[in-house]
Amino acid sequence: MLRSRILGTGFVTGQHRVTNDDLVRMMDTSDQWIRERSGVEQRYYVEEGTTTTDLGLGAARKALEDAGVKAEEIDYIVFATMTPDHYFPGCGGILQDKLGLGPIPALDIRQQCTGFIYGLQVSDALLRSGQARTLLLVGAEVHSGFMPWTQWDHLFGGEGPAPTETEKAWNSRFRDRTVLFGDAGGAAILRAVDGDRGLLGFKVHSDGNGFESLYVPSCGFAQRPYVTDKDFLEGRHIPEMNGKQVFKLAVTRMPEVVREVCAAQGVPVQDIDLLIAHQANLRINEMVQRALELPDSKVFNNIQRYGNTTAATIPIALDEARKSGRVKDGDLVCFVGLGAGFHWGAALMRA
Ligand code: ACO
Repeated sequence: MLRSRILGTGFVTGQHRVTNDDLVRMMDTSDQWIRERSGVEQRYYVEEGTTTTDLGLGAARKALEDAGVKAEEIDYIVFATMTPDHYFPGCGGILQDKLGLGPIPALDIRQQCTGFIYGLQVSDALLRSGQARTLLLVGAEVHSGFMPWTQWDHLFGGEGPAPTETEKAWNSRFRDRTVLFGDAGGAAILRAVDGDRGLLGFKVHSDGNGFESLYVPSCGFAQRPYVTDKDFLEGRHIPEMNGKQVFKLAVTRMPEVVREVCAAQGVPVQDIDLLIAHQANLRINEMVQRALELPDSKVFNNIQRYGNTTAATIPIALDEARKSGRVKDGDLVCFVGLGAGFHWGAALMRA
């Protein structure tokens, strides 16, 4: 049986580590609130000018080294992001150029927090149908462009001015979202190989009903022109989120789709050796774990150190899990995620 195998993984983060206490200098929040509600302790932001494709490039190079594969061997790129360098073109082609590759196909997918899982499904189909032989799958994000503040130098510990009280009040308007996100990129190198190990199956879903519970109101072609001064003055370029609604959806849909993918493969949920869930909120993942009755030893979380890096969370967690010995050859690994759209899904892999 031909199965798609992950040969190597790697990730990079933004250059600046920012703790919850650092964020207190920018808005009305606290380390305690952020930890208790989300589990996040710190995140990384890029230096201005470092883009999503730069993070994708760094992650790709590490994944290539880990896989023992040369960049020239890549014959297909799949790039998942919701924070592309430009409105268009997408990141896949830009990364192809940055890697110095020939005109190989490069596909962009935009399933937000479920981007890497959709990416795995598409990659698996391309590999097993023979349309690609060595595929680079990337999930990368620069969320810091969404942040409402301008006092970056102060945040990074420089001499720049601190926010005024008015600026702090503006920054605080978005605090339920801004404290959650970080900048990072993750990558995997995949090949189809004969045998029992590799990606076993997928269950993915989309439901656009209620998409406004998590979306960017402006900067889209539903309005003319697609971006205005007023949008910026009102903060309509920053994602809007009904946090409670998203939380409820996540704790319902994620266990459901894990059960579905296990049932489709004929394996009991209890046979999962490691659950790698999208890292949106530690409380969500703890509830998913309880619903699935999995012990701590079978669940991997690292949101504490990186925050929510959207399409990058799963490859980062997989890389850390592999390199710390939490994933052993033959283990049954389950990936699961839910995000804006709404899109959600799960994948099973025999490591
Ligand atoms: N610091 C301090 N106080 C805050 C902060 C903050 N950063 N943010 C909100 N608060 C306050 C609110 O103003 C509110 O105060 P009030 O009671 O005086 O009005 C109180 O805390 C509770 O606010 P809620 O927004 O109701 O807090 P909630 O318990 O719902 O937690 C959270 C918010 C953490 C965002 C949670 O709802 C959540 O994690 N939701 C899911 C997020 C998610 O998974 N997103 C999807 C992934 S992203 C993607 O797909 C792109």
